[in-house]
Amino acid sequence: MSASTSAAPQIITQPPPPQAARESRIATHSHIKGLGLADDGTAMEQSQGFVGQRLAREALGLHLQLLRMGRHAGRPLLLVGPPGTGKTAMALAMSQELGSKVPFCAMVGSEVYSGEVKKTEVLGSCFRRAIGLRIKETKEVYEGEVTELTPSEAENPLSGYGKTISHVIVGLKTVKGTKQLRLDPSVYEAIQKERVVVGDVIYIEANTGAVKRVGRSDAYASEFDLEAEEYVPLPKGDVHKRKELVQDVTLHDLDMANARPQGGQDIMSVMGQLVKGGRTEVTDKLRREINKVVDRYIEQGVAELIPGVLFIDEVHMLDMECFTYLNRALESPMSPYVVLASNRGISTIRGTEYDGVVGGSGEGIRSPHGIPVDLLDRCMIVKTSLYTRDEIRRVLELRTKVEGIALRSDALEKLADEGERSSLRYALQLLSPAAVLAKTNGRIEVGVEDVSELGELFLDAKRSTGVLKEQDLNETRY
Ligand SMILES: Nc1ncnc2c1ncn2[C@@H]1O[C@H](COP(=O)(O)OP(=O)(O)OP(=O)(O)O)[C@@H](O)[C@H]1O
Ligand SMILES: [Mg+2]
Repeated sequence: MSASTSAAPQIITQPPPPQAARESRIATHSHIKGLGLADDGTAMEQSQGFVGQRLAREALGLHLQLLRMGRHAGRPLLLVGPPGTGKTAMALAMSQELGSKVPFCAMVGSEVYSGEVKKTEVLGSCFRRAIGLRIKETKEVYEGEVTELTPSEAENPLSGYGKTISHVIVGLKTVKGTKQLRLDPSVYEAIQKERVVVGDVIYIEANTGAVKRVGRSDAYASEFDLEAEEYVPLPKGDVHKRKELVQDVTLHDLDMANARPQGGQDIMSVMGQLVKGGRTEVTDKLRREINKVVDRYIEQGVAELIPGVLFIDEVHMLDMECFTYLNRALESPMSPYVVLASNRGISTIRGTEYDGVVGGSGEGIRSPHGIPVDLLDRCMIVKTSLYTRDEIRRVLELRTKVEGIALRSDALEKLADEGERSSLRYALQLLSPAAVLAKTNGRIEVGVEDVSELGELFLDAKRSTGVLKEQDLNETRY
């Protein structure tokens, strides 16, 4: 058995690698585990890390229900409200409610501005990240618990030094029997990448040699007290069999795999016939070709389209060109559910300033949330409101637990005061520095004195504006 491709067009897919870079904004929201809704859809006062903001949470819950039923008809959801009122947190909670099988792509409006990539290109790739495809196919596999893993070494024929792997012997066991396979070195590489050791349950695709680790065999359960492993039963049936495999990929994964088709078997070499000609860029043409093949697979019942969620935070940062693109993309049959968020009131739509109108003010078109009215008209708008002191205190309490900070009650009250005076975000941001201050002062618990000291070191937005105004009055300059 070696890596070979069959003549018929096929989709060979591996689960996409984790998207590390796109999750960096989530750390401040790590206490949020979901929308905290009861079964009847009402928001509980405090649940799953969420405090208050009940109306907005219920509205989102309803939207989620629509989404699960597959009804959305191109209507984006727009979250609006003052800074720090949980818009971003709520969108992320929505992604958690959706589960890991539904794609969720979060981007910030300003991400589209880059010197190298076109604005609409950035948006386009985010749209495709948010559309999933579930591919079901029956494949010939070798499956079982690994009983033996012995690479065979040989002298490297090219250089006098070192050794290469000539083949690998893998023993696989199922309930029914055992089989010993002699496999190609490329399969050994795949085995190493999946970190397979004796006692794991794996399957190897017969056509491609792709290796997938399913989990650790039941027989090895309770080896340790603390288990970070997933235990799976010994597979039934023969080692060599036909198996239905379900793969979840996004259209973006398919784009990338076809743009860089060369390489090992861990890169998805999708749809055999497209791969020819070593492309390196994702072009519109390539996307159209992929769409065509995807359509065909859907018609044949091999694949199922799973629209995910595209979240565009700070949507007022987009400009007219992007909004036009957005309008068009929403119309397409392959459109994800779009959630937008903005903390702006009436402001200028980017890209309309200095529009060259004779006698124009050069101020551009002003519109609510900096969004053109035609798009705004399609949106379902959800408003978030400011928090009360009590709500701020409860969020602070939640965060101290997550961050592992010991806080004296007087410090908590002081922080809640600060939050009420300024904003929830400001109060939350004081937590970590206060903990550092307390530590340098030799205390285990954060006290009110640490919070006061911070107040002297840092200004919140309101105080900072106050200082500037005062200076302006006195006409002093920096
Ligand atoms: N209702 C809530 N319950 C628990 N934590 C919350 C709640 N609302 C906000 N937070 C937390 O407060 C912080 C600020 O909220 P978030 O970033 O979601 O605000 P935002 O509305 O997106 O603000 P901006 O408009 O400035 O982007 C985050 O750490 C968030 O997790
Ligand atoms: Mg935000």
